[in-house]
Amino acid sequence: MFDRKHNCIVVVGAQWGDEGKGKLVDVLAEQADVVVRYQGGANAGHTVVVGERQVVLHQIPSGILHPRVRCVVGNGVVLDPETFFGEIKELTAQGIEIAGRLFVSDRAHVVLPYHKLLDQASEMQQQIGTTGRGIGPAYEDKIGRRGVRVTDLCRGRGAREFLEPRVERANGMLRLMGSPATADLDEHVELFGRLGAKLRPLATDTGLLVHRALRSGQRVLLEGAQGALLDVDHGTYPFVTSSNTTAGGAAVGAGIGPTEIDGVLGVVKAYTTRVGNGPLPTEVAGDLQAQLRDLGGEFGATTGRPRRCGWFDATVVRYSVRVNGLTGLAVTKLDVLDTFEEIPVCVGYRLDGSECAEVPSDVEALDRVEPVYEVLPGWQRTTATARRLADLPPAARAYLDRLEDLAGQPIRFVSVGTRRDQIIEV
Ligand code: IMP
Repeated sequence: MFDRKHNCIVVVGAQWGDEGKGKLVDVLAEQADVVVRYQGGANAGHTVVVGERQVVLHQIPSGILHPRVRCVVGNGVVLDPETFFGEIKELTAQGIEIAGRLFVSDRAHVVLPYHKLLDQASEMQQQIGTTGRGIGPAYEDKIGRRGVRVTDLCRGRGAREFLEPRVERANGMLRLMGSPATADLDEHVELFGRLGAKLRPLATDTGLLVHRALRSGQRVLLEGAQGALLDVDHGTYPFVTSSNTTAGGAAVGAGIGPTEIDGVLGVVKAYTTRVGNGPLPTEVAGDLQAQLRDLGGEFGATTGRPRRCGWFDATVVRYSVRVNGLTGLAVTKLDVLDTFEEIPVCVGYRLDGSECAEVPSDVEALDRVEPVYEVLPGWQRTTATARRLADLPPAARAYLDRLEDLAGQPIRFVSVGTRRDQIIEV
């Protein structure tokens, strides 16, 4: 993806998240100088396998596993400082050196305990199936201009005066929602002091850092979290997360102009999964769902919830190509399909008896669509050892060719296992 003309690349999830972006970022980070997370927060869970070691990162960019790379938590992220420092501790315990190469935007908003209480209370009213990490309420406060930013935490004085109206408001909201929970002002003041002091050395104008890196010819990778169908504008609203997960969000959330971005890699699974509620047109029923879930290890990296599983949905991926402006695809978890005799692929929808070529805006309509399937032959051989396209069984290549055709975008990478080396660069 990176070359002389392509210095700034975005990696996004092109379905409902959990496509394996962490692994692609890990692979591409080898050629990058800076890796930036630009939206979401501790709701994300990027699993990267290095040797025998499995590392789950929630907020720190997956690039941190490469000792040379500088990592940035951008202004578009809602940072949960407590879990962030927990991740740093875990990485340090694994011998990964963090000092001097991890930066946090001083403009990023912060998730506080009252945001988590509000998230859990609002789930009792409207079941989105959130991760309960306070993401929605933190973004609500950001847009409502009552948010808390890293810069506020770092100020280190006037914490009580700053926090009191916010905690009071949160408690009022909790009462209104009928929640028995209350946020404690003293606990928040203590947290502010403790975490502010730890954040201060990492906090900086990261937009400027990224801008300077690009000006000096360095390579920057912008790492998306979640997936296009969870985007607050383009996803299956209201069953979405509260940020712009699509590539447009990368410029805003990293603090650079959109003209800086040279390419967008969309990561798709060779099938489809979703956690949380909302439509999933190609969801499979019964034993087959359990089979796909077990083969793919489809359990949420953040919450451990079983993921809902379905076949590849070309309408969703075509939509994702459009709303993200994708310039290439990475297909992951091809090996999960190794044992199937036949593999259905959804090539379009029918809605109320008519052809439906696009993802409808109305989730009830998307819930009603009937997928039109084309059944492709399986290959029933392992793909896990393939390192070149030519190593793949012909039926697996035909499967990829069909996905490429349907999506209208070239496949640039194929992942055939969890390990770093289990990847084919096309
Ligand atoms: P929230 O982001 O915690 O507010 O959750 C909103 C929706 O996004 C729920 O359906 C979550 O399951 C989903 N979601 C959030 N983060 C991820 C992720 O990293 N992978 C997959 N789904 C996610």
